[in-house]
Formats: sequence, structure tokens, C-alpha cells
Amino acid sequence: MDEPTIELIETSFQALAPRGDELVAAFYDTLFAQHPAVRPMFSDDITAQRGALLGALVVTVNNLRKPDVLLPTLRELGARHAGYGVQAAHYDVVRDTLLSVMAELAGDLWSADLAAAWTSALDVVGATMLEGAAQG
Ligand code: HEM
Repeated sequence: MDEPTIELIETSFQALAPRGDELVAAFYDTLFAQHPAVRPMFSDDITAQRGALLGALVVTVNNLRKPDVLLPTLRELGARHAGYGVQAAHYDVVRDTLLSVMAELAGDLWSADLAAAWTSALDVVGATMLEGAAQG
């Protein structure tokens, strides 16, 4: 990820983070409404799951400039996801759902540049998690 992309991610996440609970709640509502097939992969009560996702997003954004910290963390997360039954195609679904929920929440602050920056960041996250899944 280049410097302008990292800056866009950091500043936009600072703006969104105070509404992080709302973000992840809307994320799972949208994910399960649009992709009901993935619902059974998760616990009935996803309260803890919302916090786990938000925490992982915070750790990711906070470590974009420290790949030596971020990449192994994401590989380990990805290896655990293989155990949850997560497949490569699911990462595209999660990326697109996150993008649409962030765009909705950000409102007028959203832009094509932000969409492109978050797409590339979430693609790196997904690819790195899949690397970890392949390594076991
Ligand atoms: C942006 C990429 C993703 C991030 C940052 C993320 C983050 C997390 C975190 C932090 C956990 C808590 C458990 C752990 O740390 O191992 C978790 C669990 C889980 N994630 Fe993800 N995840 C991502 C992508 C996905 C995708 C693509 C799926 C597939 C639909 C998925 C499905 C699950 C499931 C099924 C669980 C376990 C839920 C349970 O135990 O009830 N995740 N995820």
C-alpha cells in the first residue's frame, strides 16, 4: 500500500471509529440479509463477534505502517478462518459489504478515492489472511 492510500485509510477510519459499533452492527445486518448462506457459520449471538471484527479493523489500521507486525497477525487470523470454513470468495463478499456500509455511514465524506483506498486495503487483508490459511 502506498503512502496516499495509507493516509486515506487512517484519516477516514479516525472519522468512522467513533461510530465503530454502529459500523459493525450494520455490517453483520447487511451481510446476513444479502448473504444468508453465511449466517450459520457464525454463533447465534454475534454480540462478541461484532467487537472482534471492530478490534481487528482497529489493529489493522493502527499497523498499516508496521507490516512486520500486521502481516503475521493477519496470517494467523486467516489460518483460524480456514477452521471456520471461510473460503476465498467469502473475502470478496465481506470486502464489498464493508465498503457499502462504510460508504453509507460516511455519507458526504465518502469519495471514489476512499472507495479505491479501502478496496486495496481490504484486498491486502484478504490476500494475507488467505496466505495464512494456505500455510495452516
Ligand atoms: C476483513 C477480513 C476479516 C477480519 C478482519 C475478520 C475478523 C475476525 C475476528 C477478529 C474473529 C474472532 C475470532 C478470531 O480472532 O479468530 C473472526 C471470527 C469469524 N469470522 Fe472473520 N474476519 C474477516 C473475514 C471473514 C470472512 C470473509 C468470513 C466469512 C464469511 C468470516 C467469518 C468468520 C467466522 C465464521 C468467525 C467465527 C465466528 C464464531 O466463532 O461464531 N470472517 N473474524
